[in-house]
Amino acid sequence: MMKLIEVLNGKTADTPPIWFMRQAGRHLPEYLEIRATCKDFIDFCFTPDKAAEVTLQPIRRYDMDAAILFADILLIPIGLGRKVEFIKGTGPVLEPIDVEGIRQLTVCGAADRISSVWETVERVRAGLPADKALIGFTGGPWTVATYMIEGKGSPTKEIAKRFAYENPEAMADLLAALVESSADYLIGQARAGANALKIFESWAEGLAPDMFDRLVINPTRDIISRVRAAGVDVPILGFPRGSGLNAIRYAHETGITAIAAGTQMPMADFRATIPDGMPLQGNLDPLALRIGGSVLRKSVDAVLRDAEGGPHIFNLGHGVTPDVKIENVQAVVDHIRGREPNYV
Ligand code: CP3
Repeated sequence: MMKLIEVLNGKTADTPPIWFMRQAGRHLPEYLEIRATCKDFIDFCFTPDKAAEVTLQPIRRYDMDAAILFADILLIPIGLGRKVEFIKGTGPVLEPIDVEGIRQLTVCGAADRISSVWETVERVRAGLPADKALIGFTGGPWTVATYMIEGKGSPTKEIAKRFAYENPEAMADLLAALVESSADYLIGQARAGANALKIFESWAEGLAPDMFDRLVINPTRDIISRVRAAGVDVPILGFPRGSGLNAIRYAHETGITAIAAGTQMPMADFRATIPDGMPLQGNLDPLALRIGGSVLRKSVDAVLRDAEGGPHIFNLGHGVTPDVKIENVQAVVDHIRGREPNYV
């Protein structure tokens, strides 16, 4: 039985299952070794044997309870016919989309154009022990839209928010394109063997409540109804990072199975406001993981205390960074499994 899936189905485990966002990545020497064989990050994501191999690395090294598919939320815009590049030291760069560009999106067949990811899922599932879960994912429509509109990551999302206020119809069309392609993409991942799905709404902060309903809650609910209508019944985790009290409506209204909390979320208070028995994931501060030592030990204990009283999946509030020490990731795993941790 997969511990992660039991907890996603509502069981409170004696020790929480554990996995980390960005657990496959640049803090691992074995990742860097494979990464070096593919110049371009997108080619890397579209090469199933390599993507499958790095997905499995954190399971082998740390015995995590779940693997997360190695891919990126910005593959969907490629399926929709947009140009996406990852530039070393800069991050993702896209050609900013306008009203005309939205009209020209190739929605039909978008998920099929990135279907090599489904092959990665098949390969990972075939290589995973039976008690380890494989999590598939897609980006939340609003988060992906911010990159498509702004052309890059931005601290305020002001350009994307302004676009949503000033061009409500074009914005609705863009979100509809993202809903349809993301739902198809998730359905394909589940059919290829993903045991759970996650929607990364990483840029959910700073939205007025009515905007949050329009840009985040409604499109997420639409994705989930499409996935369910296709007969896919695996648990779906939502991650409306940094959305404050908007996360309460998100938990009640989108149809998600479980909710992931970002770093600043007080989980005991949050648990009291989400649907009864809904599993909670989170939310160790990634900075504590970088610092290590007694800071990390205390932070892990604080998360465990805060999450008591219901189904909990131990994770970070955001992703592992490249400077994290392997020993500290191992120590957190040991700590939550009741072994003596060796924090450095
Ligand atoms: O979590 C995992 O281990 C699974 C794989 C995964 C990646 N990206 C691999 C990746 C997942 C789930 C993502 C999601 C993703 N991608 C998000 C949402 C989650 C979050 O972190 O908030 C976002 C916003 C992106 C967009 C993205 N991809 C950015 C901004 C960057 C560049 C930043 C950087 O660190 O360079 C990426 C690249 C990326 N995606 C890397 C990895 C491991 C690093 C690229 C490399 O190895 O060269």
